[in-house]
Amino acid sequence: MNSEFSIRRRWIFFIVAMLLPVGFLHASIETGRLRENFDLGWQFHKGDIAIKRAVKAGKQGGLTDANVKVVEGEEAVIAYTDKNKVADYKASDWRNVDLPHDWLIEESFVHDDNISSQPAGNGYLPTGIGFYRKEFAIAAGDAGKKISIEFDGIFRNSTVWVNGHLMGNHKSGYTPSFYDLTDILRYGDEGKNVILVKVDATDTEGWWYEGCGIYRHVWLTKTTPLHVARFGTFVTTPTVAPEKAVVSMKTTIENEYKTTRHFQLVSRILDAVGAVVDTQVVTDSIGPSQSTELSQTGMIRQPKLWSPETPALYRLQTRIIENGIIVDNFETTFGVRTIAITTKGFFLNGKLYPIKGTANHQDFAGVGVALPDKINQYKIKLLKEMGSNGYRSAHNPPTPEVLDICDREGMLVLDENRLLTSTPEGLDELKTLMLRDRNHPSVFMWCLENEESLEGQVTGTRILEKMVETAHQLDPTRPVTAAMNHGWNEGGYSDVLDVVGYNYGQRGMQYVKDHEKYPNRKMFVTESTSYVSTRGEYEDNHEKGYVSNFGKGVGWGLQPGQDWKHVVLYPYLSGTFVWTGFDYRGEPTPYRWPCVSSHFGIMDLCGFPKDGYYGYKAAWTDQPLVHVFPHWNWPGKEGKLIKFRGYSNCEEVEILVNGKSVGKKKLSAFEYFEWDLIYMPGKLEVRGYKNGKQVARQIRETTGTASRLTAKADTLSLKADGCDVAIINIEIKDAKGRVVPTADNLIKFSIEGNGRIIGTGNGNPSSHEPDKADRRKAFNGLCQVLVQSDRQAGKIKLKATSETLEGTEVTLTVHE
Ligand code: GAL
Repeated sequence: MNSEFSIRRRWIFFIVAMLLPVGFLHASIETGRLRENFDLGWQFHKGDIAIKRAVKAGKQGGLTDANVKVVEGEEAVIAYTDKNKVADYKASDWRNVDLPHDWLIEESFVHDDNISSQPAGNGYLPTGIGFYRKEFAIAAGDAGKKISIEFDGIFRNSTVWVNGHLMGNHKSGYTPSFYDLTDILRYGDEGKNVILVKVDATDTEGWWYEGCGIYRHVWLTKTTPLHVARFGTFVTTPTVAPEKAVVSMKTTIENEYKTTRHFQLVSRILDAVGAVVDTQVVTDSIGPSQSTELSQTGMIRQPKLWSPETPALYRLQTRIIENGIIVDNFETTFGVRTIAITTKGFFLNGKLYPIKGTANHQDFAGVGVALPDKINQYKIKLLKEMGSNGYRSAHNPPTPEVLDICDREGMLVLDENRLLTSTPEGLDELKTLMLRDRNHPSVFMWCLENEESLEGQVTGTRILEKMVETAHQLDPTRPVTAAMNHGWNEGGYSDVLDVVGYNYGQRGMQYVKDHEKYPNRKMFVTESTSYVSTRGEYEDNHEKGYVSNFGKGVGWGLQPGQDWKHVVLYPYLSGTFVWTGFDYRGEPTPYRWPCVSSHFGIMDLCGFPKDGYYGYKAAWTDQPLVHVFPHWNWPGKEGKLIKFRGYSNCEEVEILVNGKSVGKKKLSAFEYFEWDLIYMPGKLEVRGYKNGKQVARQIRETTGTASRLTAKADTLSLKADGCDVAIINIEIKDAKGRVVPTADNLIKFSIEGNGRIIGTGNGNPSSHEPDKADRRKAFNGLCQVLVQSDRQAGKIKLKATSETLEGTEVTLTVHE
């Protein structure tokens, strides 16, 4: 039954194919691969369930699940018991969830250093064990196909059973896990299928918030037994010139039939509008249970080059054809661009292109690490608006959709491996990362480790050497680096790398000294700055957990914008990744409790800009701007001196208080300016000048009391796919429509129509309110609510109200 797939259907296609004109054939008949999203309809059980192997009738057996038919003769069935008593599956112990899901974000904060090995790292949320299960049917007609499941990311230590059979275990919370289910599944009348996933997140992998659960997408893939392998294509462009790009296409094909198969491999290159720009065909055969790698060379005339400003993409459409029938159809997105890191800096498409990057962990307000794709897209959009062109996925492989978004929207990615290790398991992690990601044009370099203690030691060097060798074999087109914070000139460690990464290399001007000492060394500022600040706060307050925007930072980094000055002064540094683009939960620094998230972000957890944001926007964009802080609401400080600080990319600024100039100041590039002003309620105006002409202006006014709410949604139109999200930012304004910069009113949300609230946030690093709620206090004038569509078209009305304020509402249209 399993061996020959759909012979009758193939014959029908073959006869139809014979009747069709040549050339129409490949595009007209498609069978084979089906990749279904498997996120919906799961059940979740929080806490451990003792799982033990019960011995039944001389066999291992007995999944005591009332809903599951145990097939006679089935081996190694799991019984799960509660309190060591065999218990039937009780639906009431489980609740329905759709993935991606992070159960840690649903927990309550506890100030207890015993809740886990890293309470502060987890953002004072208790981690633990959880189970997921899902029942599903597989059609009788799928018998004979290869069926596999891929989890893009489970945090962490996941064990998977299907129909009681142990499929395997995967430790890493950041790399995908894959199981071939073909033999285990029940087809048609054989019964329903149950998948059970145990997630043991009691251990951590990093020192930041990592979430708990199946927090990335899950996919079920059905192919014919003759198919392109998992991560089975590798597209590179060895020659790129204005008139043509040579495209090398390597395809790995697996034959899981019991017979030799004769096939054609048809590789078509499609441009952005779907026009075929080249087709390469090769005929071959493959023995039973064999795999083979085939190489083809294609060509793109007048290629459109990929860059963050022009993210032109191409698609490789890989088809396996047997007897005129397309038995597999696999797609790979790629781009044409050249990258080079030299002793003079980073070059993209032949031009010096210093990278204006931010490093980021993966969480966001309201959702923890379980980000709907739309929120990842929103984060990248915010970073691009700031002028950033680089993203470091610190300190682990990102979710695949982040790379798709970076390809599409234009963002260069430093793709990062989790650990310095050359154990077989460790190298497998690295291989999976690279095989999964090596076709993305956005990925420009691999980062093999971050700040491991073995940097600069001979043992570390040996381990690194093995990793570098593995990386070079899998991808000769990109350099590798390590994000080092010490040991640059010891133990031969740096010599093993293509590019030496400097985390906080400004300390003692290490990177400049090293450049002078080792002029052939290629360098990159893999991490910089670590500037801590709380949005809208201008005094340190340990009790509340707030850090002033006037701060000095943590001591191992520079001020916002100053880090960029170094890249401009020393272009051989190639670029920088500022720690971090966004605040993230966990790693509360410099204080611990009551803070539950970090303060390092240029933007807060909701993506609301802090003052330092303008330091970067000034440095990284050509838009003339001036931004001063703090706000101009200081009741009780009338007539007193107040310190102001500002960021600007103008040559000169002028400040006017209530219409009267208090003077002008010449600015130095990438440095903030300061001013002491006597506070008088009213209007503060800052003007920015270039060549003596006013090109930028900012006005700060003393506001009245909070009077009403307004809402700004990033979109008014959602897809009816159950995944799309509108990010709705609420502002508290006075009667004249000015945001009240200190307002903290409690805001309640209600929703009508085809959608739901999936989370709230306000950017306050010490907020202990739940993210999964229908209410949230504003923090310094702002708050956020995330609204997700259902699977039905229609309208969603979100209302925001607050006791003493005039409320607001937003109507979203959900389209089919
Ligand atoms: C770096 C480290 C980051 C983060 C940061 C805080 O050394 O790579 O993960 O901890 O420090 O400043």
